[in-house]
Amino acid sequence: MIKTALLLLILVVASVNSISLDIHLQLDQATYDLAVYYNQQVNKLAPNNQVFLGTESLPHITLYLTDFQENQVQNIQQSIEKVFPVLQQVAQDCNVELNFINVTGQYGMWNVKLNSCLQTLSDVIVDNTYQFITPNQSIPEWVYDLPEPLRSEKIAMIQKYGSPNVFDQFQPHVTLAWDAVDNLVQVFNTINVQPASCFSPSIGIGSVGPYGTVLDNKYGLFNFTTTI
Ligand SMILES: *[C@@H]1O[C@H](CO)[C@@H](O)[C@H](O)[C@H]1NC(C)=O
Ligand SMILES: *[C@@H]1O[C@H](CO)[C@@H](O)[C@H](O)[C@H]1NC(C)=O
Ligand SMILES: *[C@@H]1O[C@H](CO)[C@@H](O)[C@H](O)[C@H]1NC(C)=O
Repeated sequence: MIKTALLLLILVVASVNSISLDIHLQLDQATYDLAVYYNQQVNKLAPNNQVFLGTESLPHITLYLTDFQENQVQNIQQSIEKVFPVLQQVAQDCNVELNFINVTGQYGMWNVKLNSCLQTLSDVIVDNTYQFITPNQSIPEWVYDLPEPLRSEKIAMIQKYGSPNVFDQFQPHVTLAWDAVDNLVQVFNTINVQPASCFSPSIGIGSVGPYGTVLDNKYGLFNFTTTI
């Protein structure tokens, strides 16, 4: 009896398929082109960079990245549609400022200034979609290496939201590089990326590739403006 129940439980858990989705802000055309250009500059100097913007993946600012239950994708889309008027209102006045390059570990990130409108966009997305995540997602190894109290906070976040990078841990950025070989600090010093700013035209929901890249907007594209 207990064995049967256990087996059933295992089957039910195993049958919930997961899909990794990135809900993100898109860049306007000029800033998109700039990110692609800087990424190409990186690739000239850092031949082991694994990020290829414009050809293999899209420049983006992640608002929420986690594993969702595959059979809930429609509910995720509907939830975002429902809060879209709020998101649109916030985004229309939200100046996205890309300021400096932050090389952390293998990543080369174009930092985005954290302002209250970006924080709100991420918070609203997380609040309205976390009910659809895959429960009990595993804690990445690097989280265990963090000092306290950050470690406990990130673990609690992963348990509840499936992501260590939401709410007060939200650090908006555009990833320009992932490179385990070349010296990205030197490379970015040479390229000398200049600050830029834009108003985001849309929110996309896309498939996730290696190193947190976004491959498409296959699961949704919500335009803030209807005229282009
Ligand atoms: C660079 O990024 C890391 C990881 O996201 C973050 O902990 C650090 O505070 C950032 N540095 C700056 C100067 O923003
Ligand atoms: C999975 O997570 C839920 C909610 O956080 C918790 O109640 C449950 O005990 C967890 N199950 C396992 C097997 O860790
Ligand atoms: C959103 O805007 C893009 C261009 O920026 C356009 O290609 C797409 O068709 C628009 N989608 C909707 C639903 O209006």
